[in-house]
Amino acid sequence: MHERRTNRFPANLSEILCRRPRSLWAVICFPVVMIASLSTTMATWGQPPQCDPTKVVGPMRCAACHENEVRVWMQTPHAKTLEDLHRRPNANAIAAKMGIRSIKRGDICLDCHYTSQAVGDKNQVIAGVSCESCHGAATDWITLHNDYGGPTVVKAQETAAHKEQRRETAIAHGMRNPSNVYLIARSCLQCHSVPNEKLVNIGGHGAGTLDFELVSWSQGINRHNFMRTDNRSNAENSPEALRVMYVAGQIADLEFSTRATATATERGTYGLTVAQRAANAAVRLQNIQQQIQNPHVEQALIAFSRAVLKTNNESELMAIADEIQQAGIAFAQSAEGASWTTLDAMIPTRNQYK
Ligand code: HEC
Ligand code: HEC
Ligand code: HEC
Ligand code: HEC
Repeated sequence: MHERRTNRFPANLSEILCRRPRSLWAVICFPVVMIASLSTTMATWGQPPQCDPTKVVGPMRCAACHENEVRVWMQTPHAKTLEDLHRRPNANAIAAKMGIRSIKRGDICLDCHYTSQAVGDKNQVIAGVSCESCHGAATDWITLHNDYGGPTVVKAQETAAHKEQRRETAIAHGMRNPSNVYLIARSCLQCHSVPNEKLVNIGGHGAGTLDFELVSWSQGINRHNFMRTDNRSNAENSPEALRVMYVAGQIADLEFSTRATATATERGTYGLTVAQRAANAAVRLQNIQQQIQNPHVEQALIAFSRAVLKTNNESELMAIADEIQQAGIAFAQSAEGASWTTLDAMIPTRNQYK
């Protein structure tokens, strides 16, 4: 008993969390439904934020067919961090505290600020946060994702069934295809939750992007929806799609703040911030669930209701995060959003987009 208490986060936080079973979960009223198994793609979900350098092709390969997307990306902080980061005084201060001499060579900053590629037996930084950071290292899927059914078949001739199968095959080969927006939401949150205790507590790095929200952070400078208009314009999403995206972003926030909490080993800025973030994400998701009564959101909330947000609780919290992930994938696969008009009041509007 005593041991347990010394491990816990301070009273205010544990109080919120201990009261949760009654106050927060009382309105959950759905039976849990079985989630369709997606075992073929399972292996690709657990990718670390940094792509496998031996499978990275680099953004210039994408540019051959996605020139407009590359042009948009070049203007974002994701691309610019390549030239910016090491010039910032606060970056060098963090690196010094972490004992790193070169920001681009030490492994730690590479995880989230750069894309590296294997050249011979060495890894080289080739870009900032780039296409493959969000869509997955591409060697295994680049020739599959645009194959309409053989060299003679053009887009207009592709059947709906082939299109679905093409996307599934690409996903099974490591592509985070936006046709399931949860796959992309996971990419964002893997980095934007900053799951690195030492980097935060010793390096003084920010403990995650606390105001991250998928709609407002993806629909401004980052938006590059040219493909769906055959390169005529950079399309905006329908209200239905934005609702699905908004909820997917909140589920992913819950998943990754739970993962971040799982790796907390000491009381400190890191553990407190990420645990509070997880609790906040659960409250937001609970509010959403009151509006939409979705079985997958319910599954995520039920999984989280078992979470004890304390230090050194890795295996339990990671298992719960895995369940939240399953729920998120299934959510994005089936959600339509058409009837969720009451969510619109929660979703950031255009003038709030980054
Ligand atoms: C040889 C041309 C070519 C190259 C190279 C290429 N793409 Fe594509 N990509 C396409 C085409 C064509 C489509 C549209 C497929 C469709 O009609 O659904 C597409 C679609 C996509 C989509 C949307 C997927 C979907 O199912 O809606 C993403 C994401 C994407 N590409 C990312 C990339 C990235 C990242 C790279 C570089 C690693 C890349 N592509 C390289 C031709 C290419
Ligand atoms: C686990 C992911 C992750 C790692 C590892 C990481 N960063 Fe970051 N960093 C981020 C994210 C995400 C942001 C954007 C933060 C935001 O806008 O909230 C960021 C922002 C920054 C900023 C800008 C902060 C500001 O307020 O200007 C600096 C400086 C920085 N990182 C330095 C570093 C250095 C140096 C390293 C390596 C020692 C490093 N980071 C490693 C994820 C990471
Ligand atoms: C590989 C890690 C990584 C991934 C994946 C990632 N980001 Fe980032 N993001 C960063 C880092 C690092 C920065 C800060 C760059 C800097 O300031 O040097 C950043 C900055 C941003 C900014 C600019 C913030 C500002 O205040 O100007 C936005 C917006 C953003 N990210 C949105 C997203 C979205 C949306 C996704 C997913 C679709 C995403 N990011 C995926 C690492 C990542
Ligand atoms: C910060 C993460 C991030 C990065 C970096 C990124 N993408 Fe995307 N990409 C997304 C998201 C999120 C979507 C879905 C956006 C939406 O629905 O509004 C998307 C959608 C797409 C699509 C489908 C667009 C459509 O019309 O439906 C293509 C093609 C694509 N990306 C290619 C690329 C290429 C090529 C690059 C590199 C130049 C790139 N992406 C870089 C996050 C990213």
